[in-house]
Amino acid sequence: MWFPTSTRTRATTTPRASSPEDAAAEAAGAEEPRAEKIRIAGLSLWYGEARALAGVDLSIRERSVTALIGPSGCGKSTLLRTINRMNDLVSGVRIEGRVALDGQDIYAPGVEVEILRRRVGMVFQKSNPFPKSVFENVAYGPRIQGVRDRALLEEIVETSLTRAALWEEAKDRLKESALALSGGQQQRLCIARALATNPEVILMDEPASALDPLSTSRIEDLIHDLKERYTIVIVTHNMQQAARVSGRTAFLLNGDLIEEGPTDRIFTNPTRKQTEDYITGRFG
Ligand SMILES: Nc1ncnc2c1ncn2[C@@H]1O[C@H](COP(=O)(O)OP(=O)(O)O)[C@@H](O)[C@H]1O
Ligand SMILES: [Mg+2]
Repeated sequence: MWFPTSTRTRATTTPRASSPEDAAAEAAGAEEPRAEKIRIAGLSLWYGEARALAGVDLSIRERSVTALIGPSGCGKSTLLRTINRMNDLVSGVRIEGRVALDGQDIYAPGVEVEILRRRVGMVFQKSNPFPKSVFENVAYGPRIQGVRDRALLEEIVETSLTRAALWEEAKDRLKESALALSGGQQQRLCIARALATNPEVILMDEPASALDPLSTSRIEDLIHDLKERYTIVIVTHNMQQAARVSGRTAFLLNGDLIEEGPTDRIFTNPTRKQTEDYITGRFG
């Protein structure tokens, strides 16, 4: 069955709140606790001699939105890329520590990176549709996975475009070049393309920062809908956006994860001075 909903492995543990304040916020119903989907533990990363991540610990819950915030160069994109091993493509990268998906170390020997990247899809800042038709952009991943049946491909394309809130606009334009779509539509197409391989986690690196306000708000609405089904990790330099879309926020500074917790609490009552300085605009 394509798009299985019941067969998906679920983590059984619910991570404990990281502080008494967070526990109180959760108890008050500020956020429904979710099982842990991704566990990052003691994660350090070097580009050659330069350390970009320094012992990061972070628990990411399933079917929720986690925002990574922090000043430019603090390691947000690097951390995001460790979750589907996109850093493997960069030469001179060295990693220590652990990233586990559903309890399984994704850096363990024998892990098939292609399968990992299907489970953990990615959407980039600059939309990057292939110079192919709208249909073929979405059908690309399933075709690579060996789907040949035309009716099934059509179903996947429709479902993915619907979930990416693009079907109504694109259903009569499936044969047109993807490059003829507007910027905001192209970004939703890239989200549809990521959904077409049936991922569990979607990584988004500043997915709306190149878009106009209306397209941005459509993407934010979409993220809100997608979290019912997917685990989303989003990098954003826009703190209002983090506040609008995420349930939890992690603040990074110079490769250190300074503080993580329910988004409301991080923005209203941070426990660390560096977090407060950042969210009040004192640096970054
Ligand atoms: N491919 C790379 N090669 C070498 N250094 C890199 C590379 N990508 C990022 N860096 C460095 O790692 C640090 C973190 O970068 P990055 O993760 O892109 O930060 P952010 O996304 O928070 O702006 C920066 O000092 C950056 O210059
Ligand atoms: Mg970045």
